[in-house]
Amino acid sequence: MTIAVTNRLPEPALAALREAAELRIDERTEAVPRPDLLRLVAGAEAILTLLHDRVDEELLEAAGPQLRCVANVAVGYDNVDVEAAVRRGVVVTNTPGVLDDATADLTLALILAATRRVAEGDRLIRAGRPWTWGMSFMLGSGLRGKLLGIVGLGGIGRRVAERARAFGMEIAYHSRHPAPAEVSAALGAERLPLDELLARADVVSLHCPLTPETRHLIGAGELARMKPTAVLINAARGPVVDEPALAEALAAGEIASAGLDVYEHEPRVEPALLGLENVVLSPHLGSATVETRTAMAELAARNAISVLRGEGPLTPVPSQ
Ligand code: DGY
Repeated sequence: MTIAVTNRLPEPALAALREAAELRIDERTEAVPRPDLLRLVAGAEAILTLLHDRVDEELLEAAGPQLRCVANVAVGYDNVDVEAAVRRGVVVTNTPGVLDDATADLTLALILAATRRVAEGDRLIRAGRPWTWGMSFMLGSGLRGKLLGIVGLGGIGRRVAERARAFGMEIAYHSRHPAPAEVSAALGAERLPLDELLARADVVSLHCPLTPETRHLIGAGELARMKPTAVLINAARGPVVDEPALAEALAAGEIASAGLDVYEHEPRVEPALLGLENVVLSPHLGSATVETRTAMAELAARNAISVLRGEGPLTPVPSQ
């Protein structure tokens, strides 16, 4: 049996895969060009993919009818055409849970950087511009008593809420289904319609998956509903936000600032954002810790091995 791996993964995951099957791996650390990807997967029984590998009819066809599992090394799986996979009897898995803490940590880093102007201050110093401590120099805004509005109260959203509570924030959330009563009670979180959450929150943090319904969930109209003092954070998926509309809102002072870890056309960033002081940009680092990336790769490997052994997937994507 062959397992194809589209990128260099942490060694513990590769060791487990090597024991279970013949391993075919593209050692590159950047996205594999499409023709190479199609060649790599041909004849494999399982494929471990990254979030920039598009798994569609073409790739499934290139893999062949023996393919049984696509194990995406990410919790998001908007890169996978799940229906097409299911039609071919291919199981799709993702890596929920293991990256919740790391992504929540990064989200808090963006909230703090945006509200306390950390990156802007760093740029000022590096540019050699004169500065001195002053009562009104580079003031930001504090978090205690402010309302954090979380869009999508899944594993990551909940971890963000827990951390924000430690900073003295109040929590509200918007999601399609109410959170379990014990979760909302523990967080003191009120469920609000999106319009109301946008109008009331001091920080809006996005943690929903990218689906046809959430594409451009935040556009010009939604940004206009937010407070002029509000902050928008996106550590979910870039296309949830209309990036040019966000750049306009930030430039016009419709909202105070933003923190982005993901981009609409990743890795390209909307040029209009690049010149703005009031946006903090990080290059999709949500899950980028040694521990978390190892755990993600190991979970994906265990999923693929379990499916190939006929024992079923550990964490199949929900929509199958
Ligand atoms: C995921 O797993 O979907 C994250 O975006 C990876 O950082």
